[in-house]
Amino acid sequence: MAKKKIALLTGGGDCPGLNAVIQSITRRLLHYDYRVIGLLEGWAGLMNKNFIPLDYSDVSGILHLGGTIIKTSRTNILKDQESIDTAFENFKELGLDGLVTIGGEGTLTVASKMQERGMPIVGAPKTIDNDIGETDFTFGFNTAVEIATEAIDRLHTTAESHQRVMVLEVMGRHAGWIACYSGIAGGADIIITPEKERSLAEILEIVHSRRKRGKTFSIIVVAEGASINIAGKSMSISKAKKDPFGRPLLGGIGKFLADTIEKETGIESRFTVLGHVQRGGTPSAHDRVLAVRYGYYAAELVHQEKWGMMAALVGNRIQEVSLKKATKKLKTVNAELLELLDACEG
Ligand code: F6P
Repeated sequence: MAKKKIALLTGGGDCPGLNAVIQSITRRLLHYDYRVIGLLEGWAGLMNKNFIPLDYSDVSGILHLGGTIIKTSRTNILKDQESIDTAFENFKELGLDGLVTIGGEGTLTVASKMQERGMPIVGAPKTIDNDIGETDFTFGFNTAVEIATEAIDRLHTTAESHQRVMVLEVMGRHAGWIACYSGIAGGADIIITPEKERSLAEILEIVHSRRKRGKTFSIIVVAEGASINIAGKSMSISKAKKDPFGRPLLGGIGKFLADTIEKETGIESRFTVLGHVQRGGTPSAHDRVLAVRYGYYAAELVHQEKWGMMAALVGNRIQEVSLKKATKKLKTVNAELLELLDACEG
């Protein structure tokens, strides 16, 4: 009997750990005697029938490499019926028996909707934002937090030497997980998340009270999707440019906050936007292990033909959740952690 053929794709923002999960899924599927291919550039690979074979040799030595050997893109094939039809036609022409989608909320939402239309798909959650529902942590997040924390540590010495306010803008879209974890780990004095709008008055009060205590510098971590309330007006910054899912590109709140603080207080203030540095380079050991665990389980879901399911980390166990449930709403920072931030400030 002909071997069954499974495709993998990586979609959305890249992150450290993607190659670890590709290696893990491929090895487990080859163990079960499947043929494996990697669709190139995420969902676009299915639209263009653009792929590479994935055999043991193709995934050897990639565990520690950042990025994704099968490339990625932000491609919304749900945008019209023609795209959806092409995807199904190509799926058939490629002779596929199943698809593993490794992605964030955009990629997995497409996966969920395509699976509901009959395409046999399982998912593995990926994003530095850690905002995917029903799973406690995504791979990529830990590495981004390590990178941001090191940045905060480094900003401390220059802030203290110049007696400045230093603002670090971190990624995370509309969830403040990276800001929270790196802010706490880096000992930031103020941590601003999309989940809890802060007033400029309150921020300036903390800066001034620190200076009265002889702390002539302050470190502020602000999530790119956060807003600041100025005299009752909520200020958030996004770009006119939108991604293929119609989501505005975020970024700019760090500069806005640093400029506003300097204007209001006369205290020299500077900003740093970590940007894509948070997504680059080799994954942390934690993310390598987590990615391998996700990959192994996703391959098991394929072998059991549990289409429509996603590997998820609940507590310290990897288990299955439905893609539909996982993509219902973003996982934002919980009240307990937001309360902890209050205790870490000042
Ligand atoms: O979703 C991951 C992420 O890094 C977000 O934190 C960020 O807002 C977005 O991707 C940036 O998108 P792009 O890489 O397309 O600029």
